[in-house]
Amino acid sequence: MDILGTMQARYSCRSFSDKPVEQEKIDRIIEAARCAPSAVNRQPVHVWVVKSPSRIEDMKACTRYTFNSTCILMFGYSDDAWVRPFDNKRFGDVDATIAATQAMLEVTAQGLESTWVGYFDPAVVKERFPETKGYTITALFPIGYPAEDGTPSARHSERKGKEEFSTIL
Ligand SMILES: Cc1cc2nc3c(=O)[nH]c(=O)nc-3n(C[C@H](O)[C@H](O)[C@H](O)COP(=O)(O)O)c2cc1C
Repeated sequence: MDILGTMQARYSCRSFSDKPVEQEKIDRIIEAARCAPSAVNRQPVHVWVVKSPSRIEDMKACTRYTFNSTCILMFGYSDDAWVRPFDNKRFGDVDATIAATQAMLEVTAQGLESTWVGYFDPAVVKERFPETKGYTITALFPIGYPAEDGTPSARHSERKGKEEFSTIL
């Protein structure tokens, strides 16, 4: 499948099976994120792969959206992120989002699915995951093999049409 096909196949999966994600697949997903561009190549992004049952329980304290996943990726960025001098805009969230999106596509390419989770309590993440000290967390991705009911939601097919979405000037 080409990249566009992978993008069109991706959907937010909100129910995962118990089948564990193979380490080789996790390695490819991390590599997809690692090779992402970042502003001024500062590479402020870090990814945590949360797999052990006790740390999955920690995740459940941070968000209600874990969807029975046995592998949750957490994307964050440090103060190394570039700051644009004109308006002091910090690019950490942009950098982390690019890396996370590349990872998300590789997840689909590996026959797995994910959901981008922005609904989490950052204070609880800090408490339960002291490893993230010095980082701002952008996203959590429960990933895995879809369960039988892990199908696209009705919202998935609600997309603006080309005319509304884009403008030729
Ligand atoms: C920044 C961002 C945050 C999101 N946060 C959540 C979330 O906390 N929980 C959830 O179930 N889905 C979350 N989603 C998934 C969206 O609801 C989903 O992408 C959208 O409804 C379109 O459906 P699709 O991904 O299946 O195409 C988030 C998506 C993005 C891009």
